[in-house]
Amino acid sequence: MGWVHRRRDLGGLIFIDLRDREGIAQVVFDPEKGPRAHELAHNIRTEFVLAIKGRVNLRPADMVNPSLKTGEVEVVTDELEILNESDTPPFVLDGETPVSENLLLKYRYLDLRRKGIQQKIILRSKVAAETRTYLQREGFIEIETPFLTKSTPEGARDYLVPSRVNPGTFYALPQSPQLFKQLLMVSGFDKYYQIVKCFRDEDLRADRQPEFTQIDMEMSFIAEDDIIGVIEGMMEHLFGTCLGKKLQVPFPRLTYRESIDRYGRDNPDTRFSLEIADLTDIAGRSEFRVFSEAAKSGGAIKALTVADGKALSRKDLDALGGFVSPYGAKGVSWARVDENGWTGSLAKFFNQEEMQRVHEKTGARPGALILFVADAKDVVSASLGALRAHLAERLGLIDPDALAFTWITEFPMFEYSKTEGRYMATHHPFTSPMTEDVHLLETDPGRVRARAYDLVLNGSEIGGGSIRIHKSDVQSMIFKILGLREDEARAKFGFLLDALKYGTPPHGGVAFGLDRMVMIMAGAESIRDVIAFPKTLKATCLLTDAPSEVSADQLADLSLKII
Ligand code: AMO
Repeated sequence: MGWVHRRRDLGGLIFIDLRDREGIAQVVFDPEKGPRAHELAHNIRTEFVLAIKGRVNLRPADMVNPSLKTGEVEVVTDELEILNESDTPPFVLDGETPVSENLLLKYRYLDLRRKGIQQKIILRSKVAAETRTYLQREGFIEIETPFLTKSTPEGARDYLVPSRVNPGTFYALPQSPQLFKQLLMVSGFDKYYQIVKCFRDEDLRADRQPEFTQIDMEMSFIAEDDIIGVIEGMMEHLFGTCLGKKLQVPFPRLTYRESIDRYGRDNPDTRFSLEIADLTDIAGRSEFRVFSEAAKSGGAIKALTVADGKALSRKDLDALGGFVSPYGAKGVSWARVDENGWTGSLAKFFNQEEMQRVHEKTGARPGALILFVADAKDVVSASLGALRAHLAERLGLIDPDALAFTWITEFPMFEYSKTEGRYMATHHPFTSPMTEDVHLLETDPGRVRARAYDLVLNGSEIGGGSIRIHKSDVQSMIFKILGLREDEARAKFGFLLDALKYGTPPHGGVAFGLDRMVMIMAGAESIRDVIAFPKTLKATCLLTDAPSEVSADQLADLSLKII
């Protein structure tokens, strides 16, 4: 049984490629072997659903198709039943003809018939199953936590659900099960996991969905190295069983500071080197005004060096500004290195000795191209981080089969938000500060580092977590630094502050973005390719037309009015 993928009428014989999720089989209708079936087969069109009965024969030698798993056989039909007909689909299901994404999403159930996408969804199922196998074997217990709950801050807006029986009050859909998993540690379930939906109302991108799935974990009586070890084992297991790939463990670790300094961002793609060099000392003293002013005002001058400078034409160089302007940089200056020094507009501002020092720091040799950005420090890092990613693509520096995992550690505990006029938690407010930095909490919170870690794969943050605060007074102090008044902290998190008073063990955990991980494992371009029924970048579902308006009665039931 299956769907008609293709029909070919060859005079006397009719051939059909019959498809199901396992693949395609060739079915033959021969008027001499099954006259009734052959007659009926004239009515068949693509995507009809058939049941056939027949005999599996070897194909004649000249009809063998080596590119098909079933290419050596065919089914010669005795009986045919058309189980259902199909309208002509709105697009060709061969996976090759280009189709607009909106059309694919509107008819997602047809899109999901296509082989490429089915394989991704099947891979996802395998990854989830192997996650459970590994974690159960390691002694983790899967526990479900509520969806109708209170806000758990992870940096996004909440999706709210009005309560009918308690007019004027709302549940929040969880941005993550963070607080419940911590409470489970208080209860003594010392190894918890859950494959769980999370909901975040935030700006969407190619690797973000408003509802997505986490592999969520928490453990008691542990420190960073314990959880990192469990995760490295889990990655070895998942990539081994699902993709047949052997990973090199332990994964390299970089502190947040190192990552920003060398790669410009905290999710560095380490499949290629192309590292950033800090030239503030040298270039800041040059006579080039943009550089000297950046240095004077406490900014930085940093550079990327392309060994084969010829690969970028003058036109390419003119276009680089466009890659850095979204990060606030005013432009990219450049110098081409040859045997005698530099060419390009920067050359006249640097003497031989300064050029030599730049070459030492950047590793530039004749033929190289040095790309400079000068500005405030964070602008320089973000700009060169983006430029680095662009150049790697443009210059073909990325090995498509490489899997580069990196742990990023020692994140800053807080970030100052100018718009809010207060510190915000970089990870979330339940993360423990590093012991050596606790003394700075009250005097200089901006310098406190957190016991937080992210796992980055090929430049994408696939997971993050931290060792948590397990003492009520420390948690209260962190809320205070975050600008929460005591009564606000009690109203929002009183249950946590209470729980922390009843013998909470030291604990920590991590959560992985299952969708993001599978997306990379499947080599997909968008997170939508590994989610059966995804939403658009505007958080809509084109298939069901959600979100949609509700009736006046429903609103009245909920004591709500639209303004
Ligand atoms: P965090 O917010 O870093 O941590 O989320 C963990 C991982 O979830 C994935 N992710 C997303 N995937 C798709 N769409 C989104 N909108 C989205 N947002 C996040 C990312 C990310 O690394 N409670 C903490 C974990 C902990 O501390 O244990 C948390 O949720 O891959």
